Amino acid sequence: IGQSIHYKESVDSTQKIAHRLAYDDAPEGTVVIAEEQLLGRGRMDRAWHSPKYSGIWMSIILRPNLPIPKAPQLTLLTAVAVVQAIEEITSLSPQIKWPNDILMNGKKVTGILTELQAEADRIISIIIGIGINVNQKREEYPDELKDIATSLSIESGEQINRSVLIRGIFNRLEHLYEIYLENGFYPIKLLWESYAISIGKTITARTLNHTIRGKALGITEDGVLQIEDEEGKIHSVYSADIDLQ
Ligand code: BTN
Repeated sequence: IGQSIHYKESVDSTQKIAHRLAYDDAPEGTVVIAEEQLLGRGRMDRAWHSPKYSGIWMSIILRPNLPIPKAPQLTLLTAVAVVQAIEEITSLSPQIKWPNDILMNGKKVTGILTELQAEADRIISIIIGIGINVNQKREEYPDELKDIATSLSIESGEQINRSVLIRGIFNRLEHLYEIYLENGFYPIKLLWESYAISIGKTITARTLNHTIRGKALGITEDGVLQIEDEEGKIHSVYSADIDLQ
């Protein structure tokens, strides 16, 4: 991972560029990194604030030979890799909020967006977009983000070397990806659960159509969140926003 890096000063979205490269047969492990994104995208079509020089905005192309339903596992795997790399080079111990938010003190430091190119039911390429708030200062955040987002620098009180963190993520990701391809998702699931905030707690999951409140039991082999409601009924949640209360 990171053998081929497309480094750009300013782009609309690294995700969009990576899609095009993947479509043009870019090899597995190709990475697109930009200093700034003018149209950074988050999950559920939200905008992703990507100011110049202060974050890590990158998209990684993987080509696992897997059926489509396995894709969420790679999102969870990426979250573990990013948490481990952050732990390795800062004094921080971030946690993961299902499926893929990385939080410090309840505020978001990293978001992960995975998208697929597929044929029939197989994955041809998976584009993993990673956005990390690294060196932003508190006063630089727009008002609407101040309460929900933070940066590694705000949390640790240190300036963080982005190149070192990027290298750390490549190493961790490559290592976990090898474990995953050899041994399956189980070892990754255990790691993921050890970093997860919500497991065992009462949460509210808002999906497109309804809201489920109950205890988060854990994730299945496929990365699906299981919630037990007050009547003891177990719900499988594939995609939702989670409130930790
Ligand atoms: C989320 O939490 O909603 C996911 C955010 C993903 C942001 C990253 S930044 C690099 C890549 N390019 C994008 O436009 N989005 C992802």
